[in-house]
Amino acid sequence: MSLFMGDVARFIDDSVLESLKLRPVAGLPTQIHISVTDRCCLPCRMCDIWKIKPSDEMSTGEWKGVFDQIAHWAGAVGLNFAGGEPFLRKDLPELTRYATSLGFSVTANTNATLLSEARVAEIASSGLDILYVSLDGTTADTHDHARGEAGTFDKVMAALERVDKVEKPRVIVAMIINRINIHQIKEMAEWTLERGYQVVYQPLFNTFGQSYDPNWYLSSELFPREEDLPALEEALDYLIKIKEADGHVCNAVGQLQEMKRYFRSPSVSNGLPCNAGHSDLSLDPYGNLLLCFWLPPVGDVRKTPIPWMWNSFASQRRRWEAYHCPRTCNMLNCNFEHV
Ligand SMILES: C[S@@+](CC[C@H](N)C(=O)[O-])C[C@H]1O[C@@H](n2cnc3c(N)ncnc32)[C@H](O)[C@@H]1O
Ligand code: SF4
Ligand code: SF4
Repeated sequence: MSLFMGDVARFIDDSVLESLKLRPVAGLPTQIHISVTDRCCLPCRMCDIWKIKPSDEMSTGEWKGVFDQIAHWAGAVGLNFAGGEPFLRKDLPELTRYATSLGFSVTANTNATLLSEARVAEIASSGLDILYVSLDGTTADTHDHARGEAGTFDKVMAALERVDKVEKPRVIVAMIINRINIHQIKEMAEWTLERGYQVVYQPLFNTFGQSYDPNWYLSSELFPREEDLPALEEALDYLIKIKEADGHVCNAVGQLQEMKRYFRSPSVSNGLPCNAGHSDLSLDPYGNLLLCFWLPPVGDVRKTPIPWMWNSFASQRRRWEAYHCPRTCNMLNCNFEHV
């Protein structure tokens, strides 16, 4: 068997890796992000995934085969289903059930517009651990504006009522911070505490589904402006204070602190490490293996075993790119070191 660069990196001294500006290969990933579909049912303003024309998605059987492979290779890791809207896949509860039977801890992100009573019952019996529910404000005007469709807030509230009646999954509300919901950041923390949910705040980033442009925020209608920053920083300080008092805010204090700098200069490198390709690995709906969703894939799970791709020269090269990556998407919750 040939020795790939990933294998070599395990045997060389840390000082050599440092001089090569490479982080050591961290063994195996502990968190796998799976985009099960690019299809979506909402026209959000901060995300263009709904505009992607989907092609040949992996089938239920193909995904189960991938989970078997991951279980044999990396053991009981964390799996996160997202998309697009993952619940557009009718087989999501079946995939979840299969993954949890292998010992994975499974989470899913959703816009919560498709969670009928029957669907919630299926999810409840699937073993899903955490449901991240997107809610970009505490009132219909802020949430519906960001999500591009009137009535979305009411659908989320109705879905939460249904999920409240089942024991599992646990709910974590995910709120994207933008310029029109800054005044609701504090209220969201209070409301989620009252309802018995956790909450995670996500800084608005380059429109998802579009290629990266370092000047993206200059033309963004939703990105906070100079005059919004004092209120935003006050709200972040409030979150830091309550984070220390109780555990229902999921973001690390360091991430909340860093968000202040991020909202002042969103495209200036923060010098923080990124998990991409170290503890985290991603798959798209078509079987492409990615070290992060913004860099080109390193291979196709339909053709090549995952451990080969993980240890390949292409992956080691991506890790090098991730090490030098000046972008600030390492601030996003899926990439931030301590969330
Ligand atoms: C791409 S969505 C997929 C799951 C589902 N459709 C949803 O909206 O929750 C995954 C997460 O990315 C967030 N997101 C979308 N566009 C974003 C942006 N431009 N900046 C930061 N987060 C974003 C969503 O709010 C959601 O929490
Ligand atoms: S954020 Fe989620 S709901 Fe909105 S367009 Fe993107 S994938 Fe769809
Ligand atoms: S900061 Fe991390 S997630 Fe973002 S593009 Fe670079 S390597 Fe990928």
